Amino acid sequence: MAKIPPGVGPRFPQVVVLVGATGDLARRKLLPGLFHLCSTGFIPGCRIIGVSLDEIDVEGFRKSARSALDEFGSRKVTQAAWDTFAATLDYVPLSAGAPALREAVERAEQSFGAECRRLHYLSVPPNAALTVVRMLGEAGLVERSRIVMEKPFGTDLKSAVTLNSKLHEVFQEEQIFRIDHFLGKEPAQNILAFRFANGLFEPIWNRNFIDHVQIDVPETLGLGKRAGFYEQTGAYRDMVVTHLFQILAFMAMEPPTALDPAPISEEKNKVFRSMEPIVPSDVVRGQYMGYRGEEGVDPDSDTETFIALKCHIDNWRWAGVPFYLRTGKRLAEGQRIISIAFREPPKSMFPPGSGVGAQGPDHLTFDLADASKMSLSFYGKRPGPGMRLDKLSLQFAMRDTGLAGEVLEAYERLILDAMRGDRTLFTTAEGIERLWEVSTHLLESPPPVRLYEQGSWGPKAVHQLIAPHAWRLPFERAWRDPNKAGS
Ligand code: BG6
Repeated sequence: MAKIPPGVGPRFPQVVVLVGATGDLARRKLLPGLFHLCSTGFIPGCRIIGVSLDEIDVEGFRKSARSALDEFGSRKVTQAAWDTFAATLDYVPLSAGAPALREAVERAEQSFGAECRRLHYLSVPPNAALTVVRMLGEAGLVERSRIVMEKPFGTDLKSAVTLNSKLHEVFQEEQIFRIDHFLGKEPAQNILAFRFANGLFEPIWNRNFIDHVQIDVPETLGLGKRAGFYEQTGAYRDMVVTHLFQILAFMAMEPPTALDPAPISEEKNKVFRSMEPIVPSDVVRGQYMGYRGEEGVDPDSDTETFIALKCHIDNWRWAGVPFYLRTGKRLAEGQRIISIAFREPPKSMFPPGSGVGAQGPDHLTFDLADASKMSLSFYGKRPGPGMRLDKLSLQFAMRDTGLAGEVLEAYERLILDAMRGDRTLFTTAEGIERLWEVSTHLLESPPPVRLYEQGSWGPKAVHQLIAPHAWRLPFERAWRDPNKAGS
């Protein structure tokens, strides 16, 4: 096992109160993530107290955690590592109330016999979050603690303001970590490195050189067992107002004065403040055929499972540059890309028919898949006589460096940061409220949903939305695979 460098993990042992411990997210991501962080030595000591509505005991919770690791963990679980992890688990059913939770936390703290910190992780539906927050207050568990809140942070401006103010009655803003797991993805952070650690691209990162930007996150998956959640959320609230806008901020922000939480939040919030309100006529809402027949879905549902929109950032850097965002369920491919299209040269000496411009503008593309990938595509000369042009590309994939094994999954990275009290990759109350504010008109007057076929790229109107440009996806060529000859 690689040695963990000092300063990467938290200084103090951690008591994690995981609320929603038997739920979908806990099973898929949080328990496997905590297991990895504990068993690789990132945390100097950890006890996890599961809390949920399920009336199970600690053995029941251990069983549920073990099956989660087997089903969803991406790494092998040895018997020894499991035994150590299982011993750190405890469980309190929600019905046992605040005193029982307090007792369990005290027991866990005593077992360390040293100074420690508390991390409350709320993986619960939005309507349950405040009840849990109050219970934590009642149990006297606010001191020495941090609280991680899952999205959605409200459903509109009013509810977000109310949620934040109620939260602030119990926790200080510095204790609150609003998690957006897209910011924990290694490639999202690599956008900052790419932009601000190199001299080559930042000078052209503006309206003079960039024609438009696409943030495109199509998914092949459907609802799974989340109809209840999704019916109230839809694609805009589930994906855009959280993940896609956060990525947009990394892509569009000014250089922060330091790589610290406050300067980074300030620059992101400046982007949000400069965003123009979303105009419903610049939005395409879609719903896949068959959605209304799914279990738990209203047969007359108006919830969108697809959304594409155009938005603008009205500042000196970006005025006049459209940002196109798209995401949806049951689409043709699962991809997560940011694509930056450069302006065409002012004059072309290449004759008609040479192929110049025939495959869209030159692009820089970031793939937000777990290990970073990037591609710069440009026109180059096709070998042989005459002057025929082809689209070529320079591609980088972290996998080729042999370092991909070091990548922490998004939730692992963010849990570790919350334990360290590092808010750099978390979102602020101010930023979130501003995003709801720019969404108000759209939420009040949404355009009608248009049906689209499962396995397609969404309703046909997405092409008009982006015209005269074209969506970068589907790629005309697949990513190069170094293991395949000739690719
Ligand atoms: C979640 C959304 O936040 O992000 C899901 O609720 C979505 O609907 C998921 O599928 C996508 O995340 P990832 O990391 O798989 O791209």
